[in-house]
This record gives sequence, C-alpha cells and structure tokens, in this order.
Amino acid sequence: MSQSTIAASYDAIPYPNLGYSHTHPDHLATLATLLGLNPASPEKCRVLELGTASGWNIIPFAYAFPESQFVGIDISPIQIQEGQAAIQALGLQNIRLEACDILEITSDLGEFDYIIAHGVYSWVPTDVRDALIRVCKQNLSPNGVAYISYNTYPGSYMTRMVREMMLYHTRNAATPFEKAEGARDFMAFLRENNTIPESGFAAFLNTYSDMLQQRLEHATSRSNSVILHDELAEINDALYFHEFASHAAHHGLQYLVEAEFPTVMVSNLKDPVIDAIKEFAGDIIETEQYLDFLRNRNFRKTLLCHAEIELERTIKLERVTTFRVSSMARPVNNELDIASVAPEKFGASDNATFTTDHPLSKAAFFYLSEVSPQSIPFRSLFIAARNILAEFEPQPEDAASINREAQILAANLLQAYSYSTNLITFSLTAPRYTTELSEYPTVSPVARYLARSSLLVPNIRHERVELDAISHFLLLKLDGTNNRVDLMNALLDLFGKGSFAFQINNETVTDTDKIKEILETQLNLTMEWFTHAALLVS
Ligand SMILES: C[S@@+](CC[C@H](N)C(=O)[O-])C[C@H]1O[C@@H](n2cnc3c(N)ncnc32)[C@H](O)[C@@H]1O
Repeated sequence: MSQSTIAASYDAIPYPNLGYSHTHPDHLATLATLLGLNPASPEKCRVLELGTASGWNIIPFAYAFPESQFVGIDISPIQIQEGQAAIQALGLQNIRLEACDILEITSDLGEFDYIIAHGVYSWVPTDVRDALIRVCKQNLSPNGVAYISYNTYPGSYMTRMVREMMLYHTRNAATPFEKAEGARDFMAFLRENNTIPESGFAAFLNTYSDMLQQRLEHATSRSNSVILHDELAEINDALYFHEFASHAAHHGLQYLVEAEFPTVMVSNLKDPVIDAIKEFAGDIIETEQYLDFLRNRNFRKTLLCHAEIELERTIKLERVTTFRVSSMARPVNNELDIASVAPEKFGASDNATFTTDHPLSKAAFFYLSEVSPQSIPFRSLFIAARNILAEFEPQPEDAASINREAQILAANLLQAYSYSTNLITFSLTAPRYTTELSEYPTVSPVARYLARSSLLVPNIRHERVELDAISHFLLLKLDGTNNRVDLMNALLDLFGKGSFAFQINNETVTDTDKIKEILETQLNLTMEWFTHAALLVS
C-alpha cells in the first residue's frame, strides 16, 4: 500500500477527533519519574505527535500547557487542515500541525521531550514503522519519553480471526460505508448465530463485539471511520512484545514502562505465578512477554527512552513523595474507623479496592475521597491525614516517626496505584480546572469547540466526557457570559420551541410552574455535574 493511498483514504474518511489520556505529558512524566528519569516538566516541554490526524489529542494539551510547544505530523492534508482551522479558531499560539510523511522527518524538526504515536505503528507499511522508531530516537531529547501503541500477539491472533471474517464478508462492498456497515452487521450476526454457544469462541465473540461497540460509540459521528481504518484497514499488523522491544533496541531505545501501569505489576499476581515467571524470564523484556502470554494481550501502549539511561526498576519511595495524589475511591464502610488498626476498604468504580489497617493511610484515603477529584501534593496530604488523626490522639513529633509514617503512606499509595489508577493517581502538575461554580461559569474553549460537532468532549484531565442533550446545550452556553438566570431563560426558550417535553406518570406536563420547577432541577443537577466533570475553568 503506497503512502499516497494511505493519505487519500484518511482524506476521504477522516479519523474521529479523539484524545487518549495515557498519552498526557503529565502521565508520561510521572511514570518516567517513578523509574528514575528526570523528564521535562509538562509545563515547559516540547511534544511531537506522529500520525496526529486532526490533532485532537494534542490540541487540549496546547491549551492546558501554554508555555509548552506542540507539533503534530500527519500524511493526510485534509485532516491537518481541519485541525489547523480549530487551532486558529481557538487562538492557540503554541501548536502547529504539518502535512508530512513520517518517512521524511529529519533531525531538522528539532528535539522533543515527548513523542507520541498512538494507533500508527501497526497500521503503516514496514518502512514507515521503522522510520517511526528512528524518529523516536533521532528527535528525542536526552531525558525524553516516546509513547508508541501497537497490536500484540498472542491476543491479536483472536482479533485477526474476526478481522479476516469481516474482510471476507465485505469483499464485494461497493463503498466504504457499505463495507463498514456490512462488517458491523456481520459481527452482530456471528454473535447471535454461532453454532457453539457454550464455547470459548462464543465467549470471545461476545467480549469482542461489546468492546467494538464501545469503541464505535466513542467515535460518535465517525464510527464507520474507526472500523474502516482500524479493523478493516489494508494494513493491520501485530507482533510480540519482545519483537517490538528488539526493534526499539535496534534503534538505540529501551523499554521504559507500559502507559497502563497496573498491567506491568508482577506483584499483582499470585505468589506461585510470580515464582514461575521468575524462573522462565531472565530480564524485564522476557518477564513482560510472559505477562502477555498470561493475559492474551492484544494491544500495548509502550513508553521508550534512550538506551544509555540507567533506570531504577526498583521504585524508590522518595519519588512518590514528589507527586501530587488524587483518588476516585470512596470508603466502603459508612462508619469509617480511622484511628484504630482495624482494616478499612476503599473502592473505586472499576471495582478495584484497597484495604489498609494503617491509620495514617486510612486518613489519607478518606481525605482524598472528600476532596476528590482534586490532586494534593504528597506533603499536604500527609499533613492533612495527620491532622485528621490528631483529632483522636496526639501524633508523634520526632523526625524518625514522621519519616516512617510518610514511607508507609508512600508505599500504600504506590501499591494502590499499581492496582488501579482509579484508586490512586499520581501527577506532577495541577490540572487547571475548577470545582467551584462561579456566577458566570466557563467551560474550556477546547471542549466548547469540539461540542459544536460532537457529544464527546475532552475534559481538562484529558478524559472523554459524554454529554446528554441538556448538558450539551448548556455547555455551549458556558462561555463566561451567561449567569444562572440567563441559563434558565435559555432552557425555557428551548422548551418553548418544543425541543423536548416532560412526562410524569405517562402524562405530558403542561403546567407552566411545574415545567419551571423541573427545568430548575435539571439546571441545578447539570451545573453540579459540571463541577465534577473537570470541564470548568476559572
Ligand atoms: C489510525 S489513525 C490514528 C490517528 C490518531 N493518532 C488517533 O489515534 O486517533 C493513523 C494516522 O496515521 C496517519 N499516517 C499514516 N501513515 C503516515 C505516514 N507515513 N506519515 C504520517 N502520518 C501517517 C494517518 O493519516 C492517520 O491519521
């Protein structure tokens, strides 16, 4: 497949405008710091994205970090033009997108502290794949971090099976639309009608079609583009992790860590499994390869750095004490016993839990749940937790005790982080969102711009936020010029135009006062939701 054919295919059917939270410079910097690197601060760094499509992964970063510089490269001029129009409309001065082939990038493009290539490596010809790794070496600053995602075996053998069936089924499709729709319908057909319902094959089809459905929903109006450019793409290759690591090593890069940190923690496995892996594997690459075998992994988001750097694979707890900490977890017990050594459990929405009997750690988790989703510097968290405990009994003041307590807290936070980043998230910078509702609330201009064409917008933490009809309508009005009265009037106006109706007990509400009351409640709930969605800026 030639470069011009690839460019033409994305020009004709652009990729959806999506962001990927694992590529966030703060996340990359945090993981690199954990492993002993001294990466550039996300607040003052240079970022390059290869295969950026319309740049919607890095445009929100450019808004979040005005003193950092961002460059996005893509071979498809139409996608680049679309992104350039957005950048101009948003008035961002620290980002530029260029229509350019990865094959043509030289050292003249300059050095970057972070290089991101999401969804590219497995979808380009071998020479581009090689150039991609070459650029990650050639254009990476000495303490830089490269992020590359790609399909992996053994899991990709199963996804490849479905891909080949979908390709066969749609071999005579006349248009890309027909091909995409045909593939989706066939997937549903297979799921419903496979002849061995109790089998592993049926279980796989169920899981796969759920996963596909979720990905397509996230692409909203461009869901056919996802299936065409990913599942049905002419090039959609996979390799074993050890092969990828060898490819990186060949260009002078080494494996740093996986962007999905919990997936690399051998300590999360049972002891006999850990012992067996230690016996099978001689180094980190082999260990990770065995983890992929155990998990049947089909996709990786790998971080690389220069091969010459000496990494600290045994994580030092001092590193943790330099981080900000946040949590989405809540205490499982309503009657929390903080002061004693009774174990208490904290749980997150992904069912991950962390149990501890260490009073200071319990106090810290409790405090984080109270201020969630805000991030707190480790030192402040430590003091806040001590203050909570001081309400029950005086806290030791000698340096040795304070140091020991801080170490235990750091170890517990690290352990929770290794279970799930919903339990604990570490970061280096404070995201610029507010949880306060001002008189004239403002949603980030980046989210407002994208909301003009999508119900899925990036928040300031670079997560995807799905909007319903009312939050979408209000978000577009939250540009700092409308107060509560204006918003209520806008809702009444919208209601007056017959855009929606309310029913109570299957009866349409017509009473004006009742309608006003319902709209007031809707407005309150939605504005409250905005304060938690990390969309509001000061
Ligand atoms: C599957 S899309 C991924 C887009 C985006 N990174 C994402 O994950 O949402 C792959 C992108 O790589 C671009 N691409 C393919 N070959 C390229 C090349 N040789 N040089 C630059 N970009 C290329 C395509 O135009 C397309 O936008």
